[in-house]
Amino acid sequence: MKIFSGLLMFTTIFFTSCQKQMKQENLPKLYSEQYRPQIHFSPPKNWMNDPNGMFFLDGEYHLFYQHYPDSNVWGPMHWGHAVSNDLVHWRNLPIALFPDSLGLIFSGSCVVDVNNTSGLGTKEQPPVVAIFTQHLMEGEKAGRHDFQTQGIAYSIDKGATWNMYDGNPVIKNSGKHDFRDPKVMWHEPSKQWVMILAVKDHVELYGSPDLKQWELMSDFGINYGNHKGVWECPDLFMMKDDGGKNQWVMLVSINPGGPQGGSATQYFIGDFDGKKFTPQDSITRWVDYGADNYAGVTWSNIPEKDGRRIFLGWMSNWQYAQIVPTEQWRSALTIPRILSLTNIENNLVLASNPVTELLTLKGEESSFQFTVDENFTDNGPIDLPSTPIQMNFNIELSTGSTFKIEFSNETGDRLLIGLDSTNQFYIDRTQTGLIDFSKDFASVHYAKRLSTKNKIDINLLMDASSIELFADNGTLVMTDLIFPKTPLNHFKMVATKGNLKADLKIYTLKSIWK
Ligand code: FRU
Repeated sequence: MKIFSGLLMFTTIFFTSCQKQMKQENLPKLYSEQYRPQIHFSPPKNWMNDPNGMFFLDGEYHLFYQHYPDSNVWGPMHWGHAVSNDLVHWRNLPIALFPDSLGLIFSGSCVVDVNNTSGLGTKEQPPVVAIFTQHLMEGEKAGRHDFQTQGIAYSIDKGATWNMYDGNPVIKNSGKHDFRDPKVMWHEPSKQWVMILAVKDHVELYGSPDLKQWELMSDFGINYGNHKGVWECPDLFMMKDDGGKNQWVMLVSINPGGPQGGSATQYFIGDFDGKKFTPQDSITRWVDYGADNYAGVTWSNIPEKDGRRIFLGWMSNWQYAQIVPTEQWRSALTIPRILSLTNIENNLVLASNPVTELLTLKGEESSFQFTVDENFTDNGPIDLPSTPIQMNFNIELSTGSTFKIEFSNETGDRLLIGLDSTNQFYIDRTQTGLIDFSKDFASVHYAKRLSTKNKIDINLLMDASSIELFADNGTLVMTDLIFPKTPLNHFKMVATKGNLKADLKIYTLKSIWK
């Protein structure tokens, strides 16, 4: 019996490593479809939604994700798994968590239990603990309201393999229809684990000494923020603002009800005393004003000497995620982003900027300088290298001027990015190629600038089917999917009113899959 299981284990390991190797070798072929992102993570095959359980350990950034391995639409959820040494290049790993008798594996988080408070590992081999929602389909179908519970799983080999905890669920459901997406952190002042959980129209905060027994401490949100949809995928963390003051930031995704319709993520700034969150005000703020950044949360266990708060979102929107025109796979994640709290004209804002590791992908650089005037439009289109590319604009407007950047191709597709006379940025994707798959897709997205300065910096990342705009030092962010029929290979800059000067640098970016 022992020999047999030893042999079986050897065969399994051998088979799994062959499988892994085959997969890595096949990547360029697999990741070469027309709309396949080249600088963003997407699953090798089939469906993905939210990023889950991101943690850092021993030089590796782990990423899990909501995954249905058998189809390119949503279905019974597993946790897909990938790992990276630099937040840019990813290695696909075998699925980490599978549905079991308590249900599907919905969104959640991971913590490294350094002191083995859970007793699931040892002091020498601290466990990594995943905390997630289990969704019991049978319960939902039977019309019950207690079908979502919180469970845990653990790894004692630094995240490589996972075991379900046999005492699940660790939080039962007393009849709350939407009760999900636990994000857990260690709160040093109160020496306990703190969980934030989304419960329909508010979040609940729980405390635990050992990740197994949880006690409800408080709730937040009934009278705050946006309530046009269900609250999902929350996060809570502390960071210093640009004046060096400690602040607590709470992220809460909502669907529908986002500023562009459908899914989006709001945030609150305030204080957390170990039990209760108190917001600084009742303004609704959005992490990203595009249509395609949802369910984003941050990495855990980033070493203090690094100190970054690194965010990753799902680059899609429930309005059309399941019918976007890709077949082999569906959905990608945003570029990992560094969050910071910046004061801009007396508003404290959560800014996002791409991780600097992205710079390692830079290839050829070209520079341009423009002086454009509304009366002088002869700045004919400039050829663009093929995606992925990064474009860095430094613009100086004469007061009251407006502009647009127009991307185009030979098949007649157009993408417009501009600033209007009310100091709003916009992305117009109404003519970007394939738009008919959903009535909600072809739209113009607006975002009010907080800065009133005439100087504007814009960092644009363009991949095969997405555009990410970071303006005014990341204090205005818009993420949008696009499906041009052929690549958008020309652009021009136009002053729609007044005039401006601009410096532009364009960088080609190397594919992360080749
Ligand atoms: C957000 C979400 C979560 C849930 C998961 C299911 O996109 O609805 O609330 O856990 O997706 O896949």
